[in-house]
Amino acid sequence: MEVHPPPLLLLLSCFAIASYAQHEHLLSSLNRSLIVSTTPTPGQVLKIGVDQVTVTWSYNQTLPTAADSNYTRVQVKLCYAPVSQSGRDDRKTDDNLLNDKTCPFDIMDGPYQRSNSSFIWTIPRDIPTATYFIRVYVTDPDDHEVAYGQSTDPLKTTNLFQIEGVTNDQVLAAWPTFKMSLGYSYAWLGVLFLM
Ligand SMILES: *[C@@H]1O[C@H](CO)[C@@H](O)[C@H](O)[C@H]1NC(C)=O
Ligand SMILES: *[C@@H]1O[C@H](CO)[C@@H](O)[C@H](O)[C@H]1NC(C)=O
Ligand SMILES: *[C@@H]1O[C@H](CO)[C@@H](O)[C@H](O)[C@H]1NC(C)=O
Ligand SMILES: *[C@@H]1O[C@H](CO)[C@@H](O)[C@H](O)[C@H]1NC(C)=O
Repeated sequence: MEVHPPPLLLLLSCFAIASYAQHEHLLSSLNRSLIVSTTPTPGQVLKIGVDQVTVTWSYNQTLPTAADSNYTRVQVKLCYAPVSQSGRDDRKTDDNLLNDKTCPFDIMDGPYQRSNSSFIWTIPRDIPTATYFIRVYVTDPDDHEVAYGQSTDPLKTTNLFQIEGVTNDQVLAAWPTFKMSLGYSYAWLGVLFLM
């Protein structure tokens, strides 16, 4: 009988490295020390390519200020609310941030500062129709998440907003449509001429 230990060992050590690396990235282990607010009124429906969201964040000044001494950068992200996650494994929340699919859209990243920071974001045209909130992660000099804040409560029920964006079908159709769009333009010209 043939035995091939090296590939198996390699595979096992990959798992070991992966689980070691993933250990430090649990959302539940981060301090929720940022206060985050957004401009949409609760339940407001925003349009892609047109509407803007202003995100404002700051360190919660009632916490000890020394606790933010290793805060280095912030990452602002658009996140699916629970109502838009149900039945969707590709949007699933996982406490392990390497597996978490709650916040797939990057809004901006930049240096951390303790006082109010804000960013005006024009909603890009490729955002799917869904209900959202915004989360801001803080990373340390090693690029590890150490803190966060979000524009909704821990159960993600308040201050949610809707984006009327692309539907699933449009996302699936986008690639062939893009390749064909030149052809389609000519076809439309032809139709216009016929009319
Ligand atoms: C700020 O931190 C204090 C102390 O932990 C907490 O009670 C308060 O709810 C926080 N404020 C916000 C807006 O998160
Ligand atoms: C700096 O970040 C690490 C996590 O990467 C944390 O364990 C440590 O307590 C932080 N130090 C301060 C002063 O907050
Ligand atoms: C941050 O902005 C909020 C809302 O605009 C305001 O109420 C608060 O006083 C500001 N805080 C600081 C430290 O500038
Ligand atoms: C969270 O904040 C406390 C102080 O409020 C600090 O001692 C601790 O190191 C912080 N943890 C991280 C991961 O930054």
